Order: sequence, then C-alpha cells, then structure tokens
Amino acid sequence: MSTIGVIIGSTRPVRIGPQLADAIAERIAADGAEPEVLDLREIDLPFMNEPRMPALGDYQHDHTKAWAEKVDALDGVVLLTPQYNGGIPAPLKNAIDTVYTEWNDLPTLVVSYGGRGGQMAADALKNVFLVTRADAVEDNVAITLGGDDYGEDGLLVDAEAVVSRFGEDLERGLKELLTKVD
Ligand SMILES: Cc1cc2nc3c(=O)[nH]c(=O)nc-3n(C[C@H](O)[C@H](O)[C@H](O)COP(=O)(O)O)c2cc1C
Repeated sequence: MSTIGVIIGSTRPVRIGPQLADAIAERIAADGAEPEVLDLREIDLPFMNEPRMPALGDYQHDHTKAWAEKVDALDGVVLLTPQYNGGIPAPLKNAIDTVYTEWNDLPTLVVSYGGRGGQMAADALKNVFLVTRADAVEDNVAITLGGDDYGEDGLLVDAEAVVSRFGEDLERGLKELLTKVD
C-alpha cells in the first residue's frame, strides 16, 4: 500500500491545519492509500542550520537526517498550506529547503486554503517545484474559507463540512496524485 504524507504547513498555537489534515487523511484512506500526517510543529525543524547546501545531501544534523528519511519513505505527499501574506508559511519553506533530493520526482498535490483559497501560496510553490523537481499535480485544490467556518476559539466548526465543499476537487487531485504514485 502506498504511503501518502500530509504535511501540515502551519505551526501556529491556534491553527486549523490539523483539522483539515485529518479530513484529507480520511479521504486518502478511502482511496486505498495509507495517510501519514506530518505536523511541522511537532517535527520542529530548526531554521536552516545545515552548514552545507542541502542539494549535496551531506546532512550533518540528526534532525535533518530524520526529516530526509521521513520524506524519502513517502510514495507521495499532500502539501497543506495556508496563505500567509501572499505566500507560504516560513516553517513550510524551511521544511522544503532543509532537504533536497528527497523531493525530486516525489508525486505532490498542493492543497491551499485561505480567504480566497490560498491561491497565491499555491502559485508560489509552482516556482519552488521547478527547482526541487517535484512531480506535482498541475492544479492545486483551493479551499476557500469564510468567517462562518470559524468558531470563537479560532478553529473550524466543522472541518469535514469545509473539506466536503471542495470534495470533487480533492477527489480529482488525489486520483491524479495516486496515478503518479502507481
Ligand atoms: C500571518 C498570517 C497571514 C495571513 N495572510 C493571509 C492572506 O494573505 N490571505 C488570506 O486569505 N488569508 C490570510 N490569513 C488568514 C489565514 O488564511 C487563516 O488565518 C488560516 O486559518 C491560517 O491557517 P492556520 O490556521 O492553519 O494557520 C493570514 C493569517 C496569518 C496568521
């Protein structure tokens, strides 16, 4: 069975990334693959502290080696990213930049979210993928959120309902991702 990582790109103390990741993981499982949620807050990579250029693969730190192994073990990945000020969160860019060859040819689906679907964040990743040579699904899934989706605690009232609104797009994206994996 293929293992598909779901990387949570947000690390804020109060965030909706994990709720969306769990709902997406359920759909990956329903499609017959094994989801693995990778929470960048838990993985807690330091910021760019490898002395050598990651593309050389000469990783010095255990945390980098562990991250490289995690990414390398995946058959495909969903990058789940909010849009922050027109781009992706810094910890997600850091996680991408910390290793290199592990991303090459990795089947990748971007699921972005935000007030307008986080499209600017998804577009920013297109340039990144040109260099990391990800085998990316052409169209990202864009989850548009409204104020009513959030409760007073800053979390989604019903993450499953939010993801269901974009269920067709997600299903199309996951199917294409899994075709790349096979
Ligand atoms: C630093 C920051 C910048 C943001 N910038 C944008 C933005 O450019 N466009 C947008 O639609 N929403 C923006 N938002 C709102 C986020 O889409 C919303 O807070 C979302 O819940 C963030 O995901 P998270 O809760 O998983 O961190 C921003 C939020 C933060 C914290």
